[in-house]
Amino acid sequence: MTSVDLPIRARFHRAFWGLKDTALRIAGRLGHERGGDRLAVQHLREASAQDGRLTNDVLNSMRAQQSHAANKNLAKRLALAIRPGDLDRPLSDMPMQHKAAKLLEDALGRHRISSIANIGARVDLVSAYLAPRFPSVKFTSVDFQDDLAVSNAPLGLATNWHFVSGYALDLLGSGAIKPEGIIMTSTSVLMNNRELDEFFATLSSVKLLVLNEAWWPFPHRLDFWKVHTPEDVPEGRPVVGGRHNNYHHNYPEKLTRHGFQIEVSRIVPGSEAGACAYQVVATR
Ligand SMILES: C[S@@+](CC[C@H](N)C(=O)[O-])C[C@H]1O[C@@H](n2cnc3c(N)ncnc32)[C@H](O)[C@@H]1O
Repeated sequence: MTSVDLPIRARFHRAFWGLKDTALRIAGRLGHERGGDRLAVQHLREASAQDGRLTNDVLNSMRAQQSHAANKNLAKRLALAIRPGDLDRPLSDMPMQHKAAKLLEDALGRHRISSIANIGARVDLVSAYLAPRFPSVKFTSVDFQDDLAVSNAPLGLATNWHFVSGYALDLLGSGAIKPEGIIMTSTSVLMNNRELDEFFATLSSVKLLVLNEAWWPFPHRLDFWKVHTPEDVPEGRPVVGGRHNNYHHNYPEKLTRHGFQIEVSRIVPGSEAGACAYQVVATR
């Protein structure tokens, strides 16, 4: 059962009543342009929730849009590189990738695995920090772009840190990568319901799965005052919401169905205003 503590309840309520997100949705319903854009994206995500794997056209366009040359936020991302002591701060002060690194560092301390892939890595602060600290573990950053090594070079490349470009479902399904562990942060929330199921189905040899994902209030639900947990999400029907119109999945149900045992399932303070983070560590 996912744990949620009281400060997080307060944070959720602030996020809801902070209204930035909610106001835009209401504005959208009233025909306001900016809110309308958000509503359009929300509808698109809802309409694609059962689409399954991405088509080649979509994959090609993501590859182009997110190439090294097109990565306008590269410097901003690199500036968040994790330095010694950063992971000793309270979780509420940590950017998302730092939280993910802390969660994975703790999990690697408990579980002996030889390899881990960061899916949706792009600028991979997590592997950059942990690879030198776990020299016997092979780290692989996986994302669509062809130029991952170029974007990540300023982080200092460790010999046990590798890059593989492609669509994770294909790479795992074909055996092109065979990691014993998987980490994802801010990525499984982009996968639609069937796509995430197909993804989990490729993980039959994975022993450790670590997820650190944004978790937002569900403002369009009638019981909006409640802090929803993943278990509140109807099976197979992710809730679309939050500032980025993320999919909020019922992770415990999906992971259990795919043969994982849940070791950690908790909602912790987020880094973006209003967002919380959902953390899960699952093993088999
Ligand atoms: C929001 S970014 C997060 C990047 C990084 N993990 C971070 O926290 O900064 C999501 C990344 O996942 C990749 N991605 C998006 N949709 C995906 C999908 N359906 N399957 C796998 N990767 C995806 C994108 O290329 C992008 O680099």
